[in-house]
Amino acid sequence: TSNQIKTCAPPVIFAAPLRGPLYPIAGTTSPRSDDGSSPLIPLQRPFVYFGRSYSQIYVNQNGDLTFNGAFSSYSPQRFPMYGTRDVIAVFWTDLDNRVNGEIYYNQYTSGSVLQQATQDINRYFPGLNFNANWVFVATWYEVAYYPTTGTRTTIQAVLISGGQYSFVLMNYGIIALTTHNAGYDTENSTHHFTIPGSFSNNATGSYSAFRLGSNVNVPGRWAFRIDLGSRGCTFNGKTRTIGCSPWYFLQ
Ligand SMILES: *[C@@H]1O[C@H](CO)[C@@H](O)[C@H](O)[C@H]1NC(C)=O
Ligand SMILES: *[C@@H]1O[C@H](CO)[C@@H](O)[C@H](O)[C@H]1NC(C)=O
Repeated sequence: TSNQIKTCAPPVIFAAPLRGPLYPIAGTTSPRSDDGSSPLIPLQRPFVYFGRSYSQIYVNQNGDLTFNGAFSSYSPQRFPMYGTRDVIAVFWTDLDNRVNGEIYYNQYTSGSVLQQATQDINRYFPGLNFNANWVFVATWYEVAYYPTTGTRTTIQAVLISGGQYSFVLMNYGIIALTTHNAGYDTENSTHHFTIPGSFSNNATGSYSAFRLGSNVNVPGRWAFRIDLGSRGCTFNGKTRTIGCSPWYFLQ
């Protein structure tokens, strides 16, 4: 109905964030490096990514998550890249925390972070009666661009699962000026999504489209459902096979 469509407005640029998009920044810190990654992180619950179930993940220095192995590429590519890996790129660019910045990751299977995730997903994807039972938060906190430029950029990936569903929230703090890509891509690019503004002049800096924009009316936050395999997903009676977010259905 038109009411449902109104609750899922297309990306809106706000003059100033109404509230911070970031989940708690906590947990294990990744080794400091340029182009490095976390060790293999065993997941406390399997995570389904477009029909494939993963029990491990890597948090890579250059702003992305991968499942089958670490990924060191520092040159952002456009999606679809028809590659050999599943990748969730919150902010794919040449980040370097040898001097400043920390990369944190944490898993939650109970407590207030699960409650927050349950609430957020039910607000953004109404009608699923979703209950989060696992949340993984990776935060690149005040990390510099290569080569140890002293700039400070904060980005965050929040993976959320429960029942048959999985989601990612991409949350953006301050984004220092540079070029990069944000979104997700899968092996052979069966599923992919690029946040509007990637590679444009407004991707980063004070007017960063990621930080000021949103597909869920929370400036700096982008929410995507990412569990679905080849069957696609339906929303408001329409079926899509290449992207599943409320905003996508309005295109
Ligand atoms: C990707 O393409 C290769 C080559 O065609 C194929 O062997 C592989 O199964 C494909 N993977 C997926 C997940 O579709
Ligand atoms: C970049 O942001 C400025 C200020 O908000 C806006 O006037 C301009 O149209 C934007 N440019 C692009 C390419 O989005």
